[in-house]
Amino acid sequence: MPLNPWNTLFSFLTIILPLLNPFVAFAVNPQGEALLSWKQSLNGPAEALSNWNPTDEAPCGWLGITCNINKEVVELELRHLSLYGTVPTNLSSLVSLTKVVLSSTNLTGSVPREIAILHELNYLDLSDNALTGEIPSEICNLLKLQEIHLDSNQLEGSIPVQIGNLTSLKWLTLYENQHLGGIIPQEIWNCTELTMLDIGQTSVSGFLPPSLGLLKKLENIYIDAALFSGQIPPEIGNCSTLQNIYLNQNSLTGSIPKSIGSLKNLRNLYLWGNSLVGTIPSELGNCKKLTLLDVSWNSLTGNIPQSFGNLSALQELGLQMNQISSEIPAQLENCKELTRISLQNNSIAGMIPSEIGNLTKLRLLILWGNELPGPIPSSISKCQNLEILELGSNGLTGNIPQGIFQFKKLKIIDLSPNNLSGEIPENIGNCSSLIWFEVGDNKLTGPIPREIGNLENLDILSLSLNRISRNVPAEILGCRNLKYLSLHSNLITGNIPGGNSSI
Ligand SMILES: *[C@@H]1O[C@H](CO)[C@@H](O)[C@H](O)[C@H]1NC(C)=O
Ligand SMILES: *[C@@H]1O[C@H](CO)[C@@H](O)[C@H](O)[C@H]1NC(C)=O
Ligand SMILES: *[C@@H]1O[C@H](CO)[C@@H](O)[C@H](O)[C@H]1NC(C)=O
Ligand SMILES: *[C@@H]1O[C@H](CO)[C@@H](O)[C@H](O)[C@H]1NC(C)=O
Ligand SMILES: *[C@@H]1O[C@H](CO)[C@@H](O)[C@H](O)[C@H]1NC(C)=O
Ligand SMILES: *[C@@H]1O[C@H](CO)[C@@H](O)[C@H](O)[C@H]1NC(C)=O
Ligand SMILES: *[C@@H]1O[C@H](CO)[C@@H](O)[C@H](O)[C@H]1NC(C)=O
Ligand SMILES: *[C@@H]1O[C@H](CO)[C@@H](O)[C@H](O)[C@H]1NC(C)=O
Ligand SMILES: *[C@@H]1O[C@H](CO)[C@@H](O)[C@H](O)[C@H]1NC(C)=O
Ligand SMILES: *[C@@H]1O[C@H](CO)[C@@H](O)[C@H](O)[C@H]1NC(C)=O
Repeated sequence: MPLNPWNTLFSFLTIILPLLNPFVAFAVNPQGEALLSWKQSLNGPAEALSNWNPTDEAPCGWLGITCNINKEVVELELRHLSLYGTVPTNLSSLVSLTKVVLSSTNLTGSVPREIAILHELNYLDLSDNALTGEIPSEICNLLKLQEIHLDSNQLEGSIPVQIGNLTSLKWLTLYENQHLGGIIPQEIWNCTELTMLDIGQTSVSGFLPPSLGLLKKLENIYIDAALFSGQIPPEIGNCSTLQNIYLNQNSLTGSIPKSIGSLKNLRNLYLWGNSLVGTIPSELGNCKKLTLLDVSWNSLTGNIPQSFGNLSALQELGLQMNQISSEIPAQLENCKELTRISLQNNSIAGMIPSEIGNLTKLRLLILWGNELPGPIPSSISKCQNLEILELGSNGLTGNIPQGIFQFKKLKIIDLSPNNLSGEIPENIGNCSSLIWFEVGDNKLTGPIPREIGNLENLDILSLSLNRISRNVPAEILGCRNLKYLSLHSNLITGNIPGGNSSI
């Protein structure tokens, strides 16, 4: 190939000249110039953007920059870098941007109004910074916007009413902006393309209108720990693509709509910590994909629906701190994936169903503060993965089942108070994972088994208010981590070994 001397000279000049003259400020095009002047305003470590080289012809190869075929910058995407600056405001050269991501980059200052100039923008992510000030309403002029991520900042003010103009908006995350307040603009429910709405952990107030049902593409609604009130509209059942409903820790009233039962894709339903009344709709048993169901800390009444036995994917069931009555349905035996059952402080009656033993993945069983008479079913010994077992304040009778002390991960046993009788099983010494053993205020008899001294991890041992007799065995000194020991009101004689304290 013959060499063209002019090309050779040109290459020489473009490569060598900038090196010879370090005072040539910019060889780069105006877009690169704009980016470099933003870089110069940053206070972060210089090495973060070290390949933003002024001698390049265009910024297209720079970290975080993507260009189109015309070498126009279309994406600025930087994450998890310590830039210590502000969001760029001089954007007049960068109007070709379609995507701006400056997430977890230690930015301060506000979301600049100047962003309104980026008419091609469809993706904006300024999340996880320390941005302050209000969300500029100008953002709602960017009609191509599909995703807005402004979560985990310190934004204030309220959500602009013009948000309803963003008819292409699919994703809006504003969570963890504690001082973002105001009433949610009703116009937001006109954003019918929304799949993700997350305004959790803000101070936004308002209510959920029936028009929520028009959001046919909504998959996730996260309004947890906000200031919402009013009822959950039955129209929520029209949002057939919903997978996650997190409305916990608000001031919602009224009852749980039956129509939620028609949400076939629902995986997680968190309604805990509201003021909901009425019964738990049995229709929820139709949500076959339901994994986490937590309606605790409300004022719900009625029974636990038998239809819950259809929830074969259910892992966590939280109904505690309500006024639920009737029995624990034996049908729960079909929910083989259950790991956590929390039903404490209700008015649930009837015996603990022996079917509980079919739940072999169960790690946590908390039933205290109900009206569950009769024995702890011996089938519980099949729940080999139990870590926490709390059954106090129920009126339970019968023995402490020996089987539970074979569990390898059991940490907490609290059976106090009840009317349990018999002796503390000797094989308690096999349960080396045990940290907390509380059986005070029962009718237990016999001695403290010597084997208890094998429990090196035991922190709390409470046996008071029983009919336990004889001496405290010297082996108890083997419980080297014991921090709390309560033995009073028993028939125990002598002193506590190793100390001079009496019982
Ligand atoms: C904004 O940037 C352009 C070049 O990109 C420059 O000409 C202009 O002076 C800048 N304006 C301000 C206010 O910095
Ligand atoms: C910078 O950001 C990181 C993570 O986003 C955070 O841990 C760190 O505290 C921030 N530094 C300052 C000085 O804000
Ligand atoms: C934007 O929304 C506001 C308030 O909802 C409305 O008055 C205005 O006409 C809308 N603008 C456009 C361009 O749609
Ligand atoms: C918003 O939706 C309501 C119906 O829910 C409709 O009446 C109203 O015209 C819509 N507003 C805009 C700006 O589209
Ligand atoms: C929306 O929900 C309401 C209340 O559950 C129901 O009566 C109505 O038929 C639903 N509309 C559509 C279009 O699904
Ligand atoms: C759901 O549970 C109810 C009550 O246990 C039962 O009658 C019904 O057949 C179940 N439906 C399905 C589809 O499993
Ligand atoms: C149990 O619930 C009642 C109200 O139903 C409440 O007064 C009581 O404090 C709760 N008990 C505990 C220990 O939380
Ligand atoms: C529950 O366990 C019992 C005894 O092991 C067994 O006969 C029964 O089939 C189990 N039920 C289910 C639904 O697996
Ligand atoms: C134990 O039984 C007695 C007599 O039936 C009853 O009065 C008491 O409330 C029961 N204790 C507990 C903790 O349930
Ligand atoms: C369990 O405890 C009993 C009684 O202390 C003892 O005889 C037995 O060997 C222990 N089993 C295991 C596996 O440690």
